[in-house]
This record gives sequence, C-alpha cells and structure tokens, in this order.
Amino acid sequence: LCSSKSYYRSLSLFLFLRSVVFSRFCSPCDIKELFCTATGLSRNTTISLLDSTGELFQNVLTQVAEQFSRAFKINELKTEVTNRLAMLEKRVELEGMKVVEIEKCRSDIKKLREEMASRNNRSVTSLSFLDDNKKLTPRRDVPSYPKYMLSQQTIDALRKPTFDVWLWESNEMLSCLEHMYHDLGLVKDFNINPITLKRWLLCIHDNYRNNPFHNFRHCFCVTQMMYSMICLCNLQEKFTQVDILILMTAAVCHDLDHPGYNNTYQINARTELAVRYNDISPLENHHCAVAFQIFSQSDCNIFANFDPEAFKQIRQGTITLILATDMARHGEILDSFKQKVDNFDFTNEEHVTCLKMVLIKCCDISNEVRPMEVAEPWVDCLLEEYFMQSDREKVEGLPVAPFMDREKVTKPTAQIGFIKFVLIPMFETVMKLFPQIEEVMVQPLRESRDRYEELKQIDDAMNEVSSDHFFYYYYYYYFLTGISYFLLIIPIGAEKEE
Ligand SMILES: *[C@@H]1O[C@H](CO)[C@@H](O)[C@H](O)[C@H]1NC(C)=O
Ligand SMILES: *[C@@H]1O[C@H](CO)[C@@H](O)[C@H](O)[C@H]1NC(C)=O
Ligand SMILES: *[C@@H]1O[C@H](CO)[C@@H](O)[C@H](O)[C@H]1NC(C)=O
Ligand SMILES: [Zn+2]
Repeated sequence: LCSSKSYYRSLSLFLFLRSVVFSRFCSPCDIKELFCTATGLSRNTTISLLDSTGELFQNVLTQVAEQFSRAFKINELKTEVTNRLAMLEKRVELEGMKVVEIEKCRSDIKKLREEMASRNNRSVTSLSFLDDNKKLTPRRDVPSYPKYMLSQQTIDALRKPTFDVWLWESNEMLSCLEHMYHDLGLVKDFNINPITLKRWLLCIHDNYRNNPFHNFRHCFCVTQMMYSMICLCNLQEKFTQVDILILMTAAVCHDLDHPGYNNTYQINARTELAVRYNDISPLENHHCAVAFQIFSQSDCNIFANFDPEAFKQIRQGTITLILATDMARHGEILDSFKQKVDNFDFTNEEHVTCLKMVLIKCCDISNEVRPMEVAEPWVDCLLEEYFMQSDREKVEGLPVAPFMDREKVTKPTAQIGFIKFVLIPMFETVMKLFPQIEEVMVQPLRESRDRYEELKQIDDAMNEVSSDHFFYYYYYYYFLTGISYFLLIIPIGAEKEE
C-alpha cells in the first residue's frame, strides 16, 4: 500500500512477489527506489508496507535489513582493511623507505583508523527505510584501486593541454609527474632509480610553499604543459633525451621555495635574497640553488648514476632554463629567439638552448592556453598573490604597481594586455617551428583574449552607467554563447540626481 504524503490519498497495490534479490550493496533508499519505479510513483512518495491484516510491515523489514547490513559491513570492512594494510605493507617492503615516505604511510594509516572509527560509529542508526537523506555509507562509490595508480583515462588526458589540473590532490599529482618521467623513457634511458625518483618528487613537493599562486600545483601545471608540448610537437624526434630531461627537470624545479613576493619587492625591500644575489634575478637564482641543494642529498639525487660530465651538462642546462623564467628578461629572450626562428637549426646548440628557454617560458605562463574553466581560477590566485604583495608594499612604504593594486585592477584588465602583448606574440613565434600548436594552444589564447575584451566592455558599460548623473534601474543579461558574452542593459527608469 503506497500513500502520497501530500494529500494522504491511499492506493492499494498488489504485488505478487516470487523472489526479490537485493544486492548486498543495496541501501534502504535503493529498495525504496525500486518500489517507486515498479509502481511508477515519484521518488518523494512515502511508502508503508502493510501485510494482509493491515499490520505495519516496515519494522520487520528494517530489522532484517539491519542484520544483513551489519553482517556485510563487518565483512567488507575486514576485507578492505586487509587489502589496504597489505598495500601499505608492500610499499614499506619495496625498499627501506626513507623518512618522508614513512611519514606518508603513517598518515595514511591514521586516516584509515579514523575512517574505521567513524564508520563503526555510524553503525545502523542510519538505516531508516523512509528517509532519503540518511544513506548507508555508499560502499560501491569507493574506488577499490589504490590511490597511487593512474587510470588509463588519466594517463591519456595527461598528454593534453586540456587536462584539468584542479581535480587532483598532491599525491595524485606526484604520481602523474612520476608517470611522465617513466613515459618519456627518462627513467630507463638514464638508469634513474625509480624509488629515488619518488623520493625526489616528494622532496620537491615539500619545498614548494602554500602561496596562492606559486605553489606545487603551479609546478605541476608548468611540468604538465611541458609534457604536453613534448608530445604535441614530437620534441623527442628533434631533441636528445638529455634535452628532454633538462626541460622536464627545470619545469619541476623552476619555482622552488617561492616566497610569494616578486623580484621587484625583494630588491626594493632589500631582502636577504636580494642581498645574496646582488639584485640579479634573486628569486630564480634561489629556485635553482634550492633545486641543487635537493640533488646534493644522495637519497633524492635522480642523477646519482650519471658520470660527472653528464651531470655538469644537466646542471648547466637546468640552471639556464630556470634563470630564463625571470620575466624581466622576456624581451631579450624572445628577441634572440626571433632572430633564429626563420633559419632554425636543430644541430646548433645555441639555437636549441634558446628554444628550450622559450619553451619553459611558454609553459610557465601557459594558464590561459587551458580551457576557460581551468584557466580562470588561476587569475584569482595570481591576483590574490599580487594583493598580498601590494598590501605589504603599502605598509612598508614601497612603490606599488597599479596592476597589483586591489583598488585598481580587475580580472579583464589584468589579462588582456598580458595575453595580447606577451602570450600571443610568444606562442605565435613558436608556432613558426611547430605549426601544430596553432589549433591546440594559440587558438585558445585568441579566444581567451576575445572573451576578456568582451568582459571588459561589460565592466566599462557598467561603470559608465553608475558614474552618470542619473540613476538607472537596469536589468542586465549575460548571454553566454560559447565564449562570447553579450550585455543587454535595459534602463527601466531614470531619475535626475539633485
Ligand atoms: C513530490 O515531487 C513532485 C514533483 O516530482 C512535486 O510536485 C510534489 O509536490 C512533491 N511532493 C512532496 C510531498 O514533496
Ligand atoms: C561516536 O559517536 C559519539 C556519540 O554519537 C561521539 O561522542 C563520538 O565522538 C563519536 N566518535 C567518533 C570517532 O566519531
Ligand atoms: C613585481 O612587482 C612590482 C611592484 O612591486 C611590479 O612593478 C613588477 O612589474 C612586478 N613584476 C612582475 C614580473 O610581475
Ligand atoms: Zn612559475
């Protein structure tokens, strides 16, 4: 008998059931849904089950369900705990893990314990046949694969600039980075110890600070874009594996220990870094120095098997690339590349070095190449870091750049100039060598520029309206068609201001 709560109308229903088989993963809600589907009633219907004498059937059913659920939950928990412990044990066994990894295991185990405790606590109180909101822990939604394994889908997506960089926790980004080194053949070709690679990446992670922008996720983005470009432009056919190793490693290390305040601030505030490096690219020098401090620890040195000559080459190449990420040198580097690009010679070392510098620069500032939903949050992160700096500059009486001032900058104004005068010219120059980037990288930049220009027109129109001597009461509509916004302002009343 099912009755709809809203108007207490009952309808009788005779179900001739031979057998109903519920999976052990079924929650009361699933059972209810089954009834609703079978009877064609809406999901929010209140269902009561009465036996032929009119007795409420529900309690019996709940009790049975409870018992089953209890039994299953205990078994499941047992299996899961056994599996996860086995996995952890295996990881410990793999080799004498060093402190960082053991810390990670420890925190994993702690999390596991807490999860078990809270799951036990929830016990059976959630098993109410009538309540949609209190679901039994939906066990089937918990993936059974270990967290450190990447799915084939992720592995495929990782090769493209459209990869959604926001979906992943640090652990997962670390696995992705690890995968790239394996996939490019670097681990094999250079005989890199795979465990050292893991430890090195963990150490890299720990040496990025939690800045709004210059954090580990930014490091991941830049490296992932580098990986995408290596795949897209078939760079492995043009470059040696040493060059590929330098490109990847420089990308991973390029902002290590970034303090969140830029070179100009360091110099104006006469910070320790500026003093140490005589105002010459203090940050980039620091990122690089930290990178090689990490390599100097033997347990994190992925180059441990290299002969001294090869190490020297990698070190020099990596330093050159990290130092090239100083935007103060943008004009100089791009001009030098423009002079070479029309007669580019892949056998000329100077040409190749210059191209590598441009490539890491491209990746470093490539957020706007990504799909709009991925790129846009980065603008907020960057502005947050800028505001942090300008606020501090105001307090300390240092010069403040208007584009960093929270009073003056907006998202469109911050992006338009940068896309038009920095990003597009640089990527269009690279396009001369690698025409395949036009569709995948340059076109998204053009679309992003157009979108921000339209957003700016909207901002300007709004400012005009509000700075007028009239009060307009208006509705405005944004029509989002692909990347274009249209603004419709309909004044529905105007009033002279006295
Ligand atoms: C149940 O949902 C239907 C729409 O699916 C709605 O019209 C009705 O008001 C809802 N009833 C209750 C009691 O929420
Ligand atoms: C278990 O539940 C009790 C009361 O419902 C609560 O006081 C206790 O903190 C809970 N424990 C955990 C581990 O959630
Ligand atoms: C760094 O900050 C200063 C303001 O202190 C600004 O003028 C300069 O353009 C900034 N540099 C970069 C590369 O953003
Ligand atoms: Zn960077």
